[in-house]
Amino acid sequence: MKVLIYGSGAREHALAWKIKQSPLLEKLYLCKPNDGFSELGEVLESENFTELAEISREKEIDLLVAGPEDPLVNGIVDEFKKVGIPAIGPGKDWAMLEGSKSFAKKFMQRNNIPTASYEIITDIKDVYNVLEKFTVPVVLKADGLAAGKGVHIANTRLDAERTLEEFLQGKFNEASQKVVVEEFLEGPELSLIALWDGNNLLPFIPARDYKKLEEGDKGPNTGGMGSYCPVSLDLKEYQELEQYIKKLETALKNEKADFTGVVYSGLIMTKEGLKVLEYNMRFGDPEIQPLLMHLDSDLLEIFAMAVNKELDKAGLKWKSGQTFCVVAAAQGYPQSPEKGGEIKNIEEIIKDHDVTVFFAGVKKQDGKLFANGGRVLSICQTGPCAQKYIYDALSELDFCDKVYRKDIGEVSLSKEVCRKNEKCCDSCGF
Ligand code: AMP
Ligand code: GLY
Repeated sequence: MKVLIYGSGAREHALAWKIKQSPLLEKLYLCKPNDGFSELGEVLESENFTELAEISREKEIDLLVAGPEDPLVNGIVDEFKKVGIPAIGPGKDWAMLEGSKSFAKKFMQRNNIPTASYEIITDIKDVYNVLEKFTVPVVLKADGLAAGKGVHIANTRLDAERTLEEFLQGKFNEASQKVVVEEFLEGPELSLIALWDGNNLLPFIPARDYKKLEEGDKGPNTGGMGSYCPVSLDLKEYQELEQYIKKLETALKNEKADFTGVVYSGLIMTKEGLKVLEYNMRFGDPEIQPLLMHLDSDLLEIFAMAVNKELDKAGLKWKSGQTFCVVAAAQGYPQSPEKGGEIKNIEEIIKDHDVTVFFAGVKKQDGKLFANGGRVLSICQTGPCAQKYIYDALSELDFCDKVYRKDIGEVSLSKEVCRKNEKCCDSCGF
């Protein structure tokens, strides 16, 4: 197969890394890769989806894998469909499950999918009446895409009123002219990524990402500072997840969701049970980095089965243990990341610490690597003592501005695995 991956982050690097391992791959093409992985394929330059689809047709590309949400919402898959190229990703219509929070809420309501109670507001005159229906904390969500910044948890009524007014006055332009006001939920969060082929849903193992900048889940929200998979669940949580997967599959079937792609459910395990916080229609970043390292199956074969509506026959094989990913971000992230810091010893780190690194905000100049964005590197490892390998690599990484969290993952599992290997235990200190 000839495959085109669209997107520039560590997620797309991980997809390219995994797809390159498939014996089904004839040639890999990349559109907008960052300098850290552009050498994995032939780069196609195009700013326009119609033109890109036409170039892809000429090159006889068999499959588009669309990475981020913006191109999906803006119709990249629809343009590829016009020239007969299938995609992993929905058209504009179903991208709305991510592109509009109110669309997603209505989908959940129609299909009896448990979620926070909510109101939709478009008129600044209704701020007082709508907020009267909620206690604080209360959650405010810009309806449209706002680059991960459109959710605000207001701890006081005054904060809620001010923020809601700011949103409705166009803080995120059109995206916040409609706002979902939502009940605040509490509990551990889970990311459930699943592939949908128009008929069948194929769930991945559950993953967790760490959205807050600082250890102990403090500080501002980010795109994700780390992740791991699988998440250990107790029996009750596992059963609730199974039930939810069935419910989601039935909902997509009932609604005749006619696309091949990802349905990512942002879940929260509350005292009253599992509820859905949001849908994304693409692989989660940074969740997909450890998930693809943990996956023992041929991803391209699974994608081909999805395109042929055969996911009911597909099975996913996973490695044992857990896989972890820690993000190294630039100083100042997420508000105003500093660009230009040199990353000096990445090759040595990879070799000495046996970690896999996926690049995000990086740029190469005169053979040197520089930070060029907020999240810069995803450092991943699987198996016994994975966290130790990652953190040793990070402490030796010569990128002086780096910011990272030191509490990614479940230590308990490392302990259990380490007990089986004395040498490993010594080095871990467990
Ligand atoms: P979303 O983009 O809807 O996933 O929101 C981003 C993050 O905001 C989530 O991962 C949660 O941590 C938090 N969040 C969203 N909705 C709620 C809610 N109803 N209650 C509590 N936290 C929420
Ligand atoms: N990790 C959250 C996201 O991809 O939106």
